[in-house]
Amino acid sequence: MDKLQISGGVALRGEIAISGAKNAALPLLCAALLTREPVTFTHVPHLNDIGTMLRLLEQMGVKVAREAGKVPGGTHSAGAGDTVTLDASALDNPLAPYELVKTMRAAILVLGPLVARAGEAKVSLPGGCAIGARPVDQHIKGLTAMGAEISVEHGYVHAQATRLKGARIFTDMVTVTGTENLMMAACLGAGETIIENAAREPEVVDLATCLNAMGARVSGAGSDVIRIQGVDALHGATHRVMPDRIETGTYLCAAAATGGDVRLTGTSSAYLDAVIDKLMDTGCEITAERDAIRLKAPARLNAVSIRTAPYPAFPTDMQAQFMAINAVADGTAVIRETIFENRFMHAVELIRLGADIKIDGNTAFVKGVAELQGATVMATDLRASASLVIAGLVAQGETVIERIYHLDRGYEALDQKLIALGAHVARLK
Ligand code: UD1
Repeated sequence: MDKLQISGGVALRGEIAISGAKNAALPLLCAALLTREPVTFTHVPHLNDIGTMLRLLEQMGVKVAREAGKVPGGTHSAGAGDTVTLDASALDNPLAPYELVKTMRAAILVLGPLVARAGEAKVSLPGGCAIGARPVDQHIKGLTAMGAEISVEHGYVHAQATRLKGARIFTDMVTVTGTENLMMAACLGAGETIIENAAREPEVVDLATCLNAMGARVSGAGSDVIRIQGVDALHGATHRVMPDRIETGTYLCAAAATGGDVRLTGTSSAYLDAVIDKLMDTGCEITAERDAIRLKAPARLNAVSIRTAPYPAFPTDMQAQFMAINAVADGTAVIRETIFENRFMHAVELIRLGADIKIDGNTAFVKGVAELQGATVMATDLRASASLVIAGLVAQGETVIERIYHLDRGYEALDQKLIALGAHVARLK
């Protein structure tokens, strides 16, 4: 299993390009299930989760073609193969097996599109994962309201419907993939569906934009009420995946923690208000350009307290990275996690690097220390791993991060991008 070796203490400097967003690409790829015509996505990141989703779609009968994309000016874009065309005309096996779903909870996103288009879906329950129970009851509740007959047997959700019908759905909590699943399913339903308490995440908006380009009639995405007028069929389209706001935020944190000066291109500060606001409170100077963000860090950061909540508030997917920067900041930060019940596993690993962190339920108290020391640490989930990378970049001496397959699930070319910013990083096979 690959490891990441980091020699810390180098301030990150320079410029890198941000990749397409994992959390936008995953639902977008599933949207291709809704039509018999080919759908093309550009700016698709090279990530293990994307590979898993493509394998899942392939075994359902979807034809997958991946090729190098072009960027304006005619040159090949950074990652060859970032254009993916999906053809679901021969969809014949509406099944998502446990072996694939267990590695990636987002596989549940096939449920809505499959039942809407094929009239049937059998999708494994994702089960527990490192950051909490994460049930899918809201996905099931919404599809049931649309007329699907759903049973849960032998660890699988089995859904059937001749044609879904419009419904008014109020989700008990804000759920991102739940909103996306129901929005996709409703596109082919008969009549109007209204999703209330909908997730407002930019990835939901990106999906709605793509669905509308495919002939859907979705309005209100980005607000907490989304209306979908069902249509009889969707058609093909081409859609560019939005930039990854969490990857953007992670590199901003890495630059901040190391006292660096970086410019991130192909991204936008528009989706990152809560994160940028907090980074400015740490003392960083941030310049937002039209398609780029520059961050200049002070010699030492001020501690900043955060509380995670659904968009547009501070994202839970940036909580771990902010724990890492607070570990070396001046003062004490209070970090409240309100989305997932067990998302502080990085704290014990950060403590092994010398951080001073106390946990009380869903609250972490982080007292900044003068320096961290390198050690061998274990990555436990995707964003936890990112926080260990940031800590390793600041720590004195060498840090080895084990189980970096978590990072490969969600950060495209992480080691190369860090090296491009001057970090001393090596991937050990
Ligand atoms: C998505 C993101 C993930 C992010 C999370 C919260 C993708 C692929 N993943 O995950 O990176 O951390 O949003 O911003 O976009 N819940 C239920 N029942 C449900 C659905 C959710 O109880 O049916 C609970 C969850 O356990 C959790 C909360 O609702 O406590 C929010 O979860 P949700 O927004 O659904 O997370 P995901 O969509 O899985």
